[in-house]
Amino acid sequence: MERLDKILVSQGFGSRREVQKLIKKKNVTVDGEVVSSPELKIDPENCLIKVGGQAVEFKRYIYIMMNKPAGVVSASSDKREKTVIDILPENLKRKNLFPAGRLDKDTEGLMIITDDGDFAHKLLSPKNHVYKRYYAELDGELSEDMVNNFKNGIEFKDGTKCLPAKLEIKDKHSAFVEICEGKFHQVKKMFKSQGLNVKYLKRVKIGGLELDVKLHTGMSREITKYEKFVIFIGK
Ligand code: URA
Repeated sequence: MERLDKILVSQGFGSRREVQKLIKKKNVTVDGEVVSSPELKIDPENCLIKVGGQAVEFKRYIYIMMNKPAGVVSASSDKREKTVIDILPENLKRKNLFPAGRLDKDTEGLMIITDDGDFAHKLLSPKNHVYKRYYAELDGELSEDMVNNFKNGIEFKDGTKCLPAKLEIKDKHSAFVEICEGKFHQVKKMFKSQGLNVKYLKRVKIGGLELDVKLHTGMSREITKYEKFVIFIGK
């Protein structure tokens, strides 16, 4: 059992104060009864809550796909920089959202934003081998040797060893890369070890979840139940 005001805050109906106002003004019903106390304890999974006559579809957690633009940082909050949370549309904003994994400020593409910590952990742990696929453009020529080097596990100058990765050459200066871990600047450093600089980087797939091509840069939408399921099966 949870407090009604807390439930409504968690579902994006505003701050605790705003929600309490909604309740006091008799805008909220639970199973058909007008509620006047924000402290009322209910089971949100088994009650019909309506706000302004509209049924609230209770979701314990939310899972969002964003096509991250360059120029925003993947953090929940930042004193100076705009974050991926700042650019979410109002209807998807909730408390406790965070990006599941990081993309550099200048990297674009698929970003998952959620408030489900267990899910994020499962997604990011290298143990689970959820592959992240990137499209990269380079400032020099790619070679078949590099494909082997990626496959054997790249070693950075400081001795850090990467797990085996897949390099798929698209043309002389562009390629797809798949990695199942997320070391700091990993893709850029892997190419750097081969004498190449990344000029453009975009994440296009996480596990079995592809970036929706209809989702323009900077846009977000909720992930469907099916998409959430395929993340972990299409590795
Ligand atoms: N690897 C990078 O170098 N940068 C990213 O943003 C993601 C992976």
